[in-house]
Amino acid sequence: MNQHAQTVSLSAIQQDFNGLDTGYRLADGRFVRRHYLDSAASTLALGCARRLTDVLLPHYANSHSQLHFSARIASHALDWAHAQVLRFLGADPVDYTAFFAGSGCTAALNRLARGLAARRPECKLVLVSLMEHHANDLPHRKQAGRVVHIPLTGASPALGTVDLAALADVLEQHPGQVNYIAISAASNVTGIINPVHDIAALAHAHGAWVVVDASQALAHAPLACSDTGAPERALDAVVFSGHKLYAPGSPGVAVVRRALLEGQEPDEVGGGMVEDVHLAGYEIASRFPDREEAGTPNILGAVQLGAVLNVLQRVGMAQIHAAEQTLLADLLGGLAALPGVRVYGDLDLARSPRLGTVAFNLAGLEHGLVAAALNDYHNIAVRNGCFCAHPYVRELLKPELWALELDPDAEDAVATLKRQQGMVRASLGLYSRSDDVAALLAGVGDLLARPAYYRAQYQTTADGNFVHRTFTASAESLFDPEAELTRILGDLRC
Ligand SMILES: Cc1ncc(COP(=O)(O)O)c(C=O)c1O
Repeated sequence: MNQHAQTVSLSAIQQDFNGLDTGYRLADGRFVRRHYLDSAASTLALGCARRLTDVLLPHYANSHSQLHFSARIASHALDWAHAQVLRFLGADPVDYTAFFAGSGCTAALNRLARGLAARRPECKLVLVSLMEHHANDLPHRKQAGRVVHIPLTGASPALGTVDLAALADVLEQHPGQVNYIAISAASNVTGIINPVHDIAALAHAHGAWVVVDASQALAHAPLACSDTGAPERALDAVVFSGHKLYAPGSPGVAVVRRALLEGQEPDEVGGGMVEDVHLAGYEIASRFPDREEAGTPNILGAVQLGAVLNVLQRVGMAQIHAAEQTLLADLLGGLAALPGVRVYGDLDLARSPRLGTVAFNLAGLEHGLVAAALNDYHNIAVRNGCFCAHPYVRELLKPELWALELDPDAEDAVATLKRQQGMVRASLGLYSRSDDVAALLAGVGDLLARPAYYRAQYQTTADGNFVHRTFTASAESLFDPEAELTRILGDLRC
């Protein structure tokens, strides 16, 4: 975004998403607008960002071609997307590079885990928090000698942020052994925000690097590689997924200090990242980010993501964050005030600040039943289960799971545990409105008022899921790609 770029109003952007009017027919026969409260999984698409790729498409070419007009346009647009990423994170291009990887941040995290393990094989330890998504846990377990999970403040079910005192203790106990700390900027389960810059200062004081998984944070609040400008507080690497940032179909992203990559063979090799290849060997390109992006990049996805980041900056992340916090207060406060609702994570926002994601359960109703009934009777799209953060969810649920006093030898022990081990998650995006929150609160109130009615509508499967007894809405009946394609071809009159 150049200095003179036109600002954009939040309300204009909030109207410009694909899928705001999507509706489905429900179990009671009504046709109702969908309330999309699953933005922590994937967000809706920002219309203007997609439209930019539509106008780029007539020029589409491979960015590895060089001379023809279209190839020059493709390369320039891809360079522009890289620049948007760096600018969004306030990352100085002299110190940092941004590269695209895979279809989400899982690819970027696996690459960093491999690369950083190879870079400092003598530092065998990696620290992660107990609240990490599996994507920011398993790659480190696989590549590092040992991973230590740092506990959180507070006690279940009101766990807070990562415990900085416990983190400092582990760093003290392992001088020179910790390669890096991998930490999420915000949890995908509770939305709780970690003080990543304080963690960076601690890490750097002990010679460790810090890798931040910003997948749940970047769309919701300002986050920069450096908060105060003090080098010791600056993040060494930040990763995120474009599909959680209003750009479905875009790649995963890594923003990394060049010093962590320079002088080392890139993790992936192939076309586009070499100066020359001989039968006896090859010379890797020195230019960033080319050397980190082997193969033809997802140019359209990257440009779409660059456009989103540009637009979010024009609106202003502080304003976006403030608007979400207002809605979050209604969501969190409304759920916590309903008798029979248990909200997970510390509810003291001054002590444990949060972004727009809330996980909860209803007394006497399993998470799978709640999510199914909210969908089938209220058209509210929420996620349920353990959200790819099993250790964290289990820790938050510990008092409830212990209270079950499950007999592990009982015939239905596994299915019972599956039905009980999980939560319902409602998560906000830029397009979320107060009527979405009101619909959720009303739906939850209805379920709590008529639990026997809803239970009678569903049967449980052997693997612990809930299936409606009479209402079926197969994916094919909702959207059949083959039929849609045939209709499109019909328009072509071929
Ligand atoms: C905090 C966090 N990290 C990592 C991931 C993995 O992202 P992806 O599936 O896009 O690679 C997710 C996805 O839910 C997430 O919430």
